[in-house]
Amino acid sequence: MPSSVMPTPRKGGGPQAPAAVSTIGLRKSYGDKTVLDGIDLRIPAGSVFALLGPNGAGKTTTVQILSTLIAADGGQAQVAGHDVATSPDGVRAAIGVTGQFSALDDLLTAEENLLLMADLLRLGKREGRFRAQKLLERFDIANVAHNRAATFSGGMRRRLDLAMTLVGDPQVIFLDEPTTGLDPRSRRTMWDTVRSLVAGGTTVFLTTQYLDEADQLADRIAVLDGGRIVAEGTADELKARIPGSHVRLRFTESAEYERAAAAFPGAARDEENLALRVAGDAGLDALRALLDRLDAAGIRAADFSAHTPDLDDVFLTLTGDGSTGTSLHVKETLR
Ligand SMILES: Nc1ncnc2c1ncn2[C@@H]1O[C@H](COP(=O)(O)OP(=O)(O)OP(=O)(O)O)[C@@H](O)[C@H]1O
Ligand SMILES: [Mg+2]
Repeated sequence: MPSSVMPTPRKGGGPQAPAAVSTIGLRKSYGDKTVLDGIDLRIPAGSVFALLGPNGAGKTTTVQILSTLIAADGGQAQVAGHDVATSPDGVRAAIGVTGQFSALDDLLTAEENLLLMADLLRLGKREGRFRAQKLLERFDIANVAHNRAATFSGGMRRRLDLAMTLVGDPQVIFLDEPTTGLDPRSRRTMWDTVRSLVAGGTTVFLTTQYLDEADQLADRIAVLDGGRIVAEGTADELKARIPGSHVRLRFTESAEYERAAAAFPGAARDEENLALRVAGDAGLDALRALLDRLDAAGIRAADFSAHTPDLDDVFLTLTGDGSTGTSLHVKETLR
């Protein structure tokens, strides 16, 4: 069944756009633990790239290397035309980073945090005040500009964090799990902000655990697992890589199950759960036809669920756990 929320049209730079970020064979180990085992990336300028991966996959490590916070052990990386190893100052001047954990000074007000950032960037007093004011308005925190960051909610902190990142007007922005812990409304606000940045020509490199976030925002997605990129492409390309739509029929009696298996000879059997997996379209018409066919044969299924692959399946399939949990079935059925 198609998702009710259609992704917005992609506006990001096409594959021909110059690379804003590119890496070849990037490697990083801590002790004898290999975190990144040869990472190749090419991110066109003006696009959104999402790096997906389970906890500990090396997402933050990748962001730290690309933003020159730590050095790689091997390989090459260029950001905004500068090599991270030989021209770190060039990289730093072109980027903004919103880390996984807040970088706000809790004792300072929202405005003071922004002005501090402007000072660090040597923007000058007048320019600093001007940009701080604009960002406070843009991120809807002007009304609390004089409150200490310590008093802010998680969503307000995240907005102020991003505002801090934008003080220097960067070409490339790294957002490490920008919406973790945010409520659905704040997440959407963050997504809108990312889209407006990209519409203005900025390149966004984000990491996320949320597959719908990557689906909604990213022109291209890479899945990081075991130190390697295990898949890379558009959301649709990734979805096309895994087994297609199917309907799962479950029975309570084995006689019923066997009769159904005979009626659907092509179906995959799941003996343990007395379930059949019938490949094919999971749309309404196809479902109706399938149920009619069961009815005509006088077979009663205990329950059924229709399943269309989504990014969750891609993620679970590619990062080791290929099973699709009950929650997915429930979700698919409810759509
Ligand atoms: N400074 C460090 N010293 C030792 N090991 C580290 C260090 N930083 C990261 N690691 C290890 O490197 C691996 C990757 O960590 P990283 O923070 O990049 O993962 P991540 O994908 O960002 O995870 P999460 O989703 O939890 O944020 C982990 O096993 C982590 O324990
Ligand atoms: Mg991380």
